Amino acid sequence: MGDTIEIKKGLAGVTADRTAVSKVNVETNSLLYRGYPVQELASTQPFESVVYLLWHGDLPSKVQLKDFMRRERVQRALDPAVVAVIDGLSEAAHPMDVVRTAVSVLGADDADAWNNEPEAVSAKALALFAKLPTVVAHIQRRHRGLEPIAPRNDLGYSANFLWMTFGEEPDEVARKAFDVSMTLYAEHSFNASTFTARVVTSTLSDYYSAVVAAIGALKGPLHGGANEAVMRTFDEIGAPANVVPWLEDALEHKRKIMGFGHRVYKRGDSRVPTMKAALDTLVDHYGRADIAEMYAALESEFVSRKGIYPNLDFPSGPAYHLLDFDTDVFTPIFVASRVAGWTAHIQEQLADNSLIRPLSAYDGVAERHIDGYVADK
Ligand code: SDX
Repeated sequence: MGDTIEIKKGLAGVTADRTAVSKVNVETNSLLYRGYPVQELASTQPFESVVYLLWHGDLPSKVQLKDFMRRERVQRALDPAVVAVIDGLSEAAHPMDVVRTAVSVLGADDADAWNNEPEAVSAKALALFAKLPTVVAHIQRRHRGLEPIAPRNDLGYSANFLWMTFGEEPDEVARKAFDVSMTLYAEHSFNASTFTARVVTSTLSDYYSAVVAAIGALKGPLHGGANEAVMRTFDEIGAPANVVPWLEDALEHKRKIMGFGHRVYKRGDSRVPTMKAALDTLVDHYGRADIAEMYAALESEFVSRKGIYPNLDFPSGPAYHLLDFDTDVFTPIFVASRVAGWTAHIQEQLADNSLIRPLSAYDGVAERHIDGYVADK
């Protein structure tokens, strides 16, 4: 019996459910958010419109967008209790742990946390969407020994994110590149963190618990933590001339090269060209040809040796570095974006729920009985 069961390790290739949120098409190497190609959304729509699309199924009208933006902007500030918890954590705490803790606190402080009615989940999601940039910016400034900067309601989502982090309004090149990255990171069907959110939601737990669990999954370097790891790889290599020896040594030691490969895409991640173009605008803007050279050298060497292509984390890591974010803040930025996709899937799971509980194939010791057990000491 045991040897006839086919195990799908890592659920690779398993279709676990239907979704209307996004379509990842390996054959055409494309990604649709509610039917729209992500490249078109990234180049023409502000991130706030994309979030509205993911949550409501259609792009907003001018009136709907104005209202959505207004409701988001007025919720950006953090309660002093949340700030106190963040500032009470060790300076050495990883920003992903601080973000995870902050979401936990927001959930614990929400008397209505366990209300899973659609309107209630939408309200919690918008508040969290508004506050996460404030949390991330606060963390980075605390790392640099700087006082937090209050959010501004006269700035759009990405401009305000950069304002709170760096204390100056971003120029259009920086704002646009960041906004593109947020759209590209927002949603990607049943990736590990999104599926985690769906598993937690399927037990009818609360919205915040599903997001906290998803943050835990995203932290891993095989998933969201890769963008942070890409920049550490660049730093470790040091210069393009070192790529070949570094890569030969890494492959000899069976290391995973961060920012490359994907469980679903096998001929390149559909989002990479759009993010690479955004990275190129930053390279030109800041005169950092060295970053472009390192990127090109590592990509060409690894693709030619292993036929494994970059994923979205490969261009986004250097982009966030050029925007002057601390490396260990890259994945919290991913959280601020992906909470949009997690929310859409949480809502979808609640709307047509079934407890997620797969089977396992037992291959442990044969049945035995306690009367055969003697505690001899
Ligand atoms: C994200 O799912 C999503 O949609 C995720 C994401 C999203 O938007 O939510 O796209 C975001 O998580 C992107 C992935 C970020 N992670 C990394 O960049 C970490 C490095 N990548 C690898 O760990 C790997 O590519 C995975 C985990 C992403 C995917 O791995 P798979 O599909 O499980 O494939 P595998 O690990 O079984 O690899 C198959 C072979 C192996 O070689 P063999 O053991 O068969 O000889 O390819 C090799 C692997 O060793 N391989 C790599 C590699 N990726 C695959 N070898 C070196 N470096 C790599 N990056």
